[in-house]
Amino acid sequence: MNNLLVTGGCGFIGANFVRFLFEEAGFQGRVVNADLLTYAGNPLSLADIEAANPERYVFRRADICDRAAMERIMDEFQIDAVAHFAAESHVDRSIVAPDTFVRTNVLGTQTLLDLCRRRMDRLEVFHHVSTDEVYGTLGEEGYFLETTPYAPSSPYSASKAASDHLVRAYHHTYGLPVTISNCSNNYGPYQFPEKLVPLMILNAIEGKPLPVYGDGRNVRDWLHVADHCRAVWAIMTRGRRGETYNVGGRSERRNLEVVGRIIDLVEQLCPALPSGPRRDLITFVKDRPGHDWRYAIDCTKLESELGWSPRETFDSGMEDTVRWYLAHRDWVESVRTGEYTRWIEAHYGKRA
Ligand code: NAD
Ligand code: DAU
Repeated sequence: MNNLLVTGGCGFIGANFVRFLFEEAGFQGRVVNADLLTYAGNPLSLADIEAANPERYVFRRADICDRAAMERIMDEFQIDAVAHFAAESHVDRSIVAPDTFVRTNVLGTQTLLDLCRRRMDRLEVFHHVSTDEVYGTLGEEGYFLETTPYAPSSPYSASKAASDHLVRAYHHTYGLPVTISNCSNNYGPYQFPEKLVPLMILNAIEGKPLPVYGDGRNVRDWLHVADHCRAVWAIMTRGRRGETYNVGGRSERRNLEVVGRIIDLVEQLCPALPSGPRRDLITFVKDRPGHDWRYAIDCTKLESELGWSPRETFDSGMEDTVRWYLAHRDWVESVRTGEYTRWIEAHYGKRA
């Protein structure tokens, strides 16, 4: 791989992945980051990487659904590998506006696949970053395996499932060298504060209500984003083409436990609030429609075939994350645009 296209590199996981390529992976080629810069994309997340690597890091603002624009990028930079992160990623937004999710996640992915298929002679790998949500929901028992049948339940997960099927179909039909990862919930630096972890961290710091959906007993399997990036790289470089690998932290927590841990960390690291303990900020709000009960990943295949295992524990990773948000108020302010304020008001205003 000499010229790696990262789509969605200004989003949460994409930006962490680009940082990982420069800071940890030892990748010596060029990284081309194509991102539309929707509300979720922030070039500030990579400003230092861009300044330090003018020869090896290129940013292009582009829509993955725009075939001509993506074709120009693929040919100008002789792209020979793709790490595809770009997507609409927030379940609650997919419930409000599913059409954007179908456009970007399904049509955008198909556009990239088609461009890659026409450049197969030089393409090493198309890695598709997907989610455990394609498998639907679990009860109290069991785990998602790579062979678990797809049963997506939100417009977001349905659009990701459709994109996974297209990636598989391009491998099966045209022999495109693809790999797919289906990962559990990520947390860590640079996550947009619409998602549970950064929303709770910032609200706890600022003494605002902590909105927990339903009874807060839903379970997610939490993985630090750096461990996800290591998994994606292991799969891209050493994974079998045409294969899917599940990625997870073996770190299941009920939402209330996650919020409780965040509160404890913020109480340790910040001054006490005059209004009283932060636990009192927990506010139970109307549940998410169709809220999946539990996700849990069996990542034995990734561990045994590629020797991957997470380095961060839930406690170490969560402390690192709270400290990061406390130290990066400039980044936080840069994402709190008018759009962010509108979302928070519209979404939580009518839930209380
Ligand atoms: P994010 O919302 O933080 O970032 C998405 C990025 O894609 C943004 O920079 C945005 O500007 C860009 N983008 C959106 N539409 C685009 C378009 N049409 N063209 C080009 N760029 C576009 O998302 P994330 O949390 O970083 O997720 C990245 C990927 O990982 C997604 O595919 C998501 O489904 C998957 N995933 C996320 C998680 C998680 O916990 N966040 C877990 C498993 C899988
Ligand atoms: O499992 C992987 C998926 O994890 C990714 O594919 C998605 O892109 C990512 O957004 C995430 O989806 P979730 O819906 O699980 O994440 P979210 O942070 O939105 O919510 C986590 C849990 O917390 C979920 O059970 C809903 C709940 N929640 C969320 C928010 C935003 C609350 O209780 N209150 C909230 O305000």
